[in-house]
Amino acid sequence: MEDLYREVILDHYKNPRGHGVIEDADASAEGMNPLCGDEVAIYVSFEDDGETIEEAKFSGRGCAISQASTSMLMEMVQGRTASEVSELSKDELLEEIGIPLTPIRLKCALLGLGVLKVALHRTKGTPLPAEWAGLDEEFKVS
Ligand code: FES
Repeated sequence: MEDLYREVILDHYKNPRGHGVIEDADASAEGMNPLCGDEVAIYVSFEDDGETIEEAKFSGRGCAISQASTSMLMEMVQGRTASEVSELSKDELLEEIGIPLTPIRLKCALLGLGVLKVALHRTKGTPLPAEWAGLDEEFKVS
């Protein structure tokens, strides 16, 4: 079973979904994993209701886990509202990744989600859940 998850991760790494930049994005942020210096920038545009995510894209460089998990995230959040995504838990993304991760790899896996949460928090004022407290500083999100 884990092999299957590994294959999916590798596929996302090699063919990242939502890779690129949205010019004039409604929300954006970038951050880095302090353990390795790898970076992810995320761009979001909303539908006319100003709430529903029409498109989410990312750019950056990093290991297979950080890039694949951010790619998966881009698919997961499409069509969801900013407030739904603010409530999306770490576990929901980690379940999608599906393989056990060491604490260091965990940081890789959560980089994109952290950056996305902060981008939405700053633009839409959606709450940053308690489990993400301090994360914007840790990931040096700007
Ligand atoms: Fe840098 Fe994974 S080693 S994000």
